[in-house]
Amino acid sequence: MGNIPKTRLGILGSGKGSNMAAIAEACRSGQFPMEIALVLSDIEDSGILARARERGLPARFIAPGRFRTKLDEEAERQYVQTLQTARVDLVVLAGFMRILKGEFLRAFPQRVVNIHPSLLPSFPGLESWRQALDYGVKVTGCTVHLADPGIDTGPILAQQTVPVLDDDTPATLHERIQQAERVLYPATLAALAQGNIRIEGRRTFRIAPPQG
Ligand code: GAR
Repeated sequence: MGNIPKTRLGILGSGKGSNMAAIAEACRSGQFPMEIALVLSDIEDSGILARARERGLPARFIAPGRFRTKLDEEAERQYVQTLQTARVDLVVLAGFMRILKGEFLRAFPQRVVNIHPSLLPSFPGLESWRQALDYGVKVTGCTVHLADPGIDTGPILAQQTVPVLDDDTPATLHERIQQAERVLYPATLAALAQGNIRIEGRRTFRIAPPQG
């Protein structure tokens, strides 16, 4: 790993925290120059906060304010300030179910990453595994992308396919996608932390790590 300084991750989530746990394992392995600086949630009793605390990670609930699908201005200010105080380099959305708008994204330009449970641009929005099943596709997957002001529209960093099986229910398909997420997300964050991804507009490229 040499002398590369560790990228400090600030993870935001609203759910059970399985992606956060996988990222925490990757950090703990010591193989990658990254560490979790802070975990934040808009849900006070969320699994992600409980799992972060079990691991001894700094974890905080910050109330989202008066809206249902986004943070209000005061909440947004608090999220940004808390992440900046923790000297976070990369904001990692791991099942954070609120849209982040301009002010937040401007505070971390090109430094907000999201995981989405479909092969974007197919099935943006909510319950993408159910959308995939209802549509009848035979292959779906997950996507890691940079967040931009649109809904699941930012430049794609990595994707992994997942088959849809004839006897899938929404729950079994979601679980298979989540298994893929738990591999793809830590690996993509590690590539970012190692400086192995170059971003040019909408296109992104892997840079081969130096040999030896
Ligand atoms: C993940 O499957 C993630 O892809 C999804 O929420 C889940 C969180 O699970 N995100 C979205 O649907 C965002 N639109 P986790 O809390 O177990 O990591």
